[in-house]
Amino acid sequence: MSSSAEGESLPARGREPGASGRRARRAVSATPYRDGPIVLRGEFELVDGDGAPVATHRRTVALCRCGRSRLGSFCDGTHRSAGFRAGGGVAREVGPVVVVPLPTEPA
Ligand code: FES
Repeated sequence: MSSSAEGESLPARGREPGASGRRARRAVSATPYRDGPIVLRGEFELVDGDGAPVATHRRTVALCRCGRSRLGSFCDGTHRSAGFRAGGGVAREVGPVVVVPLPTEPA
């Protein structure tokens, strides 16, 4: 057995292939930023409303919650000029897969 940074014991078995002996899958966190997006961090998979994968090639993405982004579900900074107001919060673990419905046509 090995230990993670949090001191939890990791099982010797159950690692995903290709994990190179390191932690198989890290937790995904979602952090709502005051007056801004929700930032996802970790190893997540995004899919559109039809279930098709959305390639991000990133371990951190900002999801729009003001509804004004020209990038669909992703924050493009428009929340600032739109005067969007919302509370922030602490990071919460959300799970390995996050479903994000994306618009099918440009707004
Ligand atoms: S939250 Fe940033 S553009 Fe909507």
